[in-house]
Amino acid sequence: MFRSAAGLSVHLLWPLWGRKAGASLSRCLHQSLTMAKQLQARRLEGIDHNPWVEFIRLSKEYDVVNLGQGFPDFSPPDFAVQAFQQATTGNFMLNQYTMAFGYPPLTKILASFFGKLLGQEMDPLKNVLVTVGAYGALFTAFQALVDEGDEVIIIEPAFDCYEPMTMMAGGCPVFVSLRPSPAPKGQLGSSNDWQLDPTELASKFTPRTKILVLNTPNNPLGKVFSKKELELVAALCQQHDVLCISDEVYQWLVYDGHQHVSIASLPGMWDRTLTIGSAGKSFSATGWKVGWVMGPDNIMKHLRTVHQNSIFHCPTQAQAAVAQCFEREQQHFGQPSSYFLQLPQAMGLNRDHMIQSLQSVGLKPLIPQGSYFLIADISDFKSSMPDLPGAMDDPYDRRFAKWMIKNKGLAAIPVSIFYSRPHQKDFDHYVRFCFVKEKTTLQAMDERLCSWKGEPQP
Ligand SMILES: Cc1ncc(COP(=O)(O)O)c(C=O)c1O
Repeated sequence: MFRSAAGLSVHLLWPLWGRKAGASLSRCLHQSLTMAKQLQARRLEGIDHNPWVEFIRLSKEYDVVNLGQGFPDFSPPDFAVQAFQQATTGNFMLNQYTMAFGYPPLTKILASFFGKLLGQEMDPLKNVLVTVGAYGALFTAFQALVDEGDEVIIIEPAFDCYEPMTMMAGGCPVFVSLRPSPAPKGQLGSSNDWQLDPTELASKFTPRTKILVLNTPNNPLGKVFSKKELELVAALCQQHDVLCISDEVYQWLVYDGHQHVSIASLPGMWDRTLTIGSAGKSFSATGWKVGWVMGPDNIMKHLRTVHQNSIFHCPTQAQAAVAQCFEREQQHFGQPSSYFLQLPQAMGLNRDHMIQSLQSVGLKPLIPQGSYFLIADISDFKSSMPDLPGAMDDPYDRRFAKWMIKNKGLAAIPVSIFYSRPHQKDFDHYVRFCFVKEKTTLQAMDERLCSWKGEPQP
């Protein structure tokens, strides 16, 4: 509180201040406020640690090929870059506020584009809300729907913000893990080998369950839930009168002919589902931070209440650019010129390249059906090098990822951070790599792997 106020003063008032004022300011900056009352809100308890921060910092400290964080290191498609340029240099009114719940051409094209895919007539004003990235959509949904004591079922491994967002809203996360079955001998496993146990899933539903969070294609596993699996989830949601938040940011990133199915398109599910998407992931422009959430008006109206009392509205120019991108995609949809076809084709090749390369040093990739990511099994390393540096209560994959950054110049993310604390030890032998990268980045990876190959193997 105190610090940020001081920071703001520096920024606004610095030119007006003399040296003396500067000296007292620097004193101010080094003080920290002590309060008799608890400083932070109670809802922040237990969620202040973010493991990403450590891995991002380490990746910057060392000379690494960064395959950790999920962002493309190549340019968005030309039509998207041009759309953004036009949005910033064309109509000057795009520098101003637009409608709170979304720039009208964007909500209109989202309603029409996804309306066809979901088999649902959508009203741009009632069924679509534009948010600050999919992250913003998730936060708005949790705040709008989760109350003190509500239970939220999260399927693990899970994008790591679902748990703290549930807790910040006062809810109670309830975890159910996808269970891997062993790959046939001598073959690579696949994300499809990770399945929900129907009995275990059913046992997680209680009278307090309010929401189930689904993520397909899944981060970090790359699993694309089949229609049959979604039908199981849908049946349980309907039986127990539970809402579904469906995070579908990687919906265009599916490989080998797998189909992405939106759970909202299944019978009876539109009425109880919020479907979340991301322009960042759709158009390889994660910095634009444009996301959306779609659903029935009686649920969406509560998200609008949160939105109008927090963000109020998202940057107009980025929304205008995304609207143009979708208008272009609507014209090309299903044709070879569609970016939503070209992107997975190109990324499928990257995935295969990475799968091939990682094996050369004894990492055992699982073939992902979708998403930006694959996970690699490091059990053999765990057996042959169990004593990697780091606190012994640190899950093995975290010690391994740090060791790899420092000694092999490759950054990946330990998969245990996608698990709740009690389950981390059971899933501490995988690391996640992002393959949505430039060819030259993959070549740099190959070079690092080549020198690693010359060294002792597990
Ligand atoms: C599963 C999942 N959901 C949501 C997001 C956030 O998307 P955005 O960048 O649009 O906020 C990410 C980003 O990595 C993600 O992996």
